[in-house]
Amino acid sequence: MLGLAINKISPVKTVILILLIAVGSLVLPNILLHFALSSKPHQSTTVQLRPQQNPIKSILLWNGSDRKEVRAFGLGQQAFINQNCTYTQCDMTDNRSEHPIEHYDAVVVVFNDEFTSEDQLRMPQFKNGRNPNQRVVFFTQESPVALKAYYNMTELSNFFNWTMTYRTNADVPFIYGRITAKSIDLKAEEIARFRGKARRRGAGPSRNKTAAWMVSHCNTHSQRETYVKELSKHIDVDIYGGCGNLSCALDVLHHSDPQCYDMLESNYKFYLSFENSLCPDYVTEKFFKIMAHDILPVVYGAADYTKHAPPHSFIDAGKWKPRELATYLKLLDANDALYDEYFWWKDHYRVEFSVNDMSRHGFCDLCQKLHEPAISKSYKELASEWGDGNQCKPFHPSTIS
Ligand SMILES: *[C@@H]1O[C@H](CO)[C@@H](O)[C@H](O)[C@H]1NC(C)=O
Ligand SMILES: *[C@@H]1O[C@H](CO)[C@@H](O)[C@H](O)[C@H]1NC(C)=O
Ligand SMILES: *[C@@H]1O[C@H](CO)[C@@H](O)[C@H](O)[C@H]1NC(C)=O
Ligand SMILES: *[C@@H]1O[C@H](CO)[C@@H](O)[C@H](O)[C@H]1NC(C)=O
Ligand SMILES: *[C@@H]1O[C@H](CO)[C@@H](O)[C@H](O)[C@H]1NC(C)=O
Ligand SMILES: *[C@@H]1O[C@H](CO)[C@@H](O)[C@H](O)[C@H]1NC(C)=O
Ligand SMILES: *[C@@H]1O[C@H](CO)[C@@H](O)[C@H](O)[C@H]1NC(C)=O
Repeated sequence: MLGLAINKISPVKTVILILLIAVGSLVLPNILLHFALSSKPHQSTTVQLRPQQNPIKSILLWNGSDRKEVRAFGLGQQAFINQNCTYTQCDMTDNRSEHPIEHYDAVVVVFNDEFTSEDQLRMPQFKNGRNPNQRVVFFTQESPVALKAYYNMTELSNFFNWTMTYRTNADVPFIYGRITAKSIDLKAEEIARFRGKARRRGAGPSRNKTAAWMVSHCNTHSQRETYVKELSKHIDVDIYGGCGNLSCALDVLHHSDPQCYDMLESNYKFYLSFENSLCPDYVTEKFFKIMAHDILPVVYGAADYTKHAPPHSFIDAGKWKPRELATYLKLLDANDALYDEYFWWKDHYRVEFSVNDMSRHGFCDLCQKLHEPAISKSYKELASEWGDGNQCKPFHPSTIS
C-alpha cells in the first residue's frame, strides 16, 4: 500500500498534495470540498491509495439502533435501496456477533443523551488493533451540553476518523432540516418582486393571537426561559407543553400532531423556535418544522440561520433585547403587509424537516462517502468541540434587559 503521512502542514501544501494524488479522478471537486470543510489543525491526516475494495461497504452501528433516526432509515442493504440512495452498496447492522469488529468498513458509534446504562455508553474495543482502512464514526444529534453528563470526551483521542453530526464541519452532515430553492438561481430583483407580492397575501388578519411556544424542558443551558419571561412582559406568549399552562398534544416537539400545527397556523402570528442550547450550528427541528408551516418563527440559537433559510423568512431574537423584540413583533402584528412579506419564499422553496428526510440524507451520504477514494483521517481530539472546550454559551443576562 502506498501511504503518505501529512502531519500539521499548511492547508495550502495539503491541498497541493491532494491535487497531485487525485489528478485524473472525476471526484476531485468532492475531495477538495470535504477536505476544505473538515481540515483543522488538531487533526492528523494521512492520504493513501488503497488496493481493491469490497464492493459492499459494511457498517456496524454501535448501540443506538433504538434511536428514531436509525429506525426511520432501517438496517441491512435493503434500507439503502428502499431509501433510494444514489449508492446502495452498503449494508448496516447493529448485531455485533455477525462479524469481528475489524471486518467492518465503518463503525458508527452513537452518542446519545437517552442511554441509561454503562453498557450503552461503552466504546468499541479493538482487541486485535485497528483496521487501518476502517472508519470509526462519531455520530450524534445532540448538543455538547446534552452529552456532557454522559461522556468524557477527553478520553477519546485518536479514536474517531469521521464525524457525522449537525455541525457544518462534519465529515458526513446529519442535519435536522434543509430549505432549498426550487429554482437554482433566484435573482435579487425576483426576490424583491416576490416580497412585494407577498404583502397582499392576507395571512395575518385572521389570526388574533400573538406568539406561541411549545416547550417541555423548562430549565435550559441557553436560558431561553429567561428571555421568554422578559418578552412576555411586553407581548402575549402562550406557552404549551410541560412548561406552560396550555396543552396541545403530547410531546409535540418530537411527534408531529397535525391538529396542533393547524391550531397554531390559524391562531398565532409568531412561534418561538428557541433552542435549548446556544451551540455552534445547533438548529433543530424546532425551526425547520415551523418553517414548513404557515407561521413566522422567531429563532433563538447560535447557528447562522441565514445559511439555513431564505432571506427575510424568520426573526432572530438573538439580535434584540426582549423589549425591543416585543416592539418589533407588535409592529408586524399591527401591519399585515409587513407581516406577510416574511412569507414571500413559500412557493419558491422546499422544506425538509422530518426525521425520515434527515436520516435518508445522512445514511445515504455515509454510504457514498465510504465508496469515494480513500482519504485517511483521524481526530486527535474531539474535546474542543464536543467536550469541555465546546463553544456553547448561555445567553448573557445583561443582554436581556
Ligand atoms: C448495545 O449493543 C449490544 C450489541 O448489540 C447489545 O448486546 C446491548 O444490549 C446494547 N445495549 C443496550 C443497553 O442497548
Ligand atoms: C423511492 O422511489 C420510489 C419510486 O420512485 C418511491 O415510490 C418511494 O416513495 C421512494 N422512497 C423514498 C423513501 O423516497
Ligand atoms: C446476530 O448474529 C448472530 C451471528 O450471525 C446470530 O446468531 C444472531 O441470531 C443474531 N442476532 C440477532 C438479534 O439477529
Ligand atoms: C476525563 O478524562 C481525562 C483523561 O483521562 C481525565 O484527566 C479527566 O479527569 C476526566 N474528567 C472527568 C470529569 O472525569
Ligand atoms: C378572534 O377573537 C375573537 C374574540 O376575541 C373570537 O370571537 C374569534 O373567533 C377570533 N378569531 C379567530 C380567527 O380565532
Ligand atoms: C396561564 O399563565 C399565564 C401566565 O402565567 C396567565 O396570565 C394565564 O391567566 C394562565 N391561563 C390559564 C388558562 O390559567
Ligand atoms: C482511523 O483512525 C485510526 C486511529 O487514529 C488510524 O489508525 C487509522 O489509520 C484511521 N483510518 C482511516 C481509514 O482513516
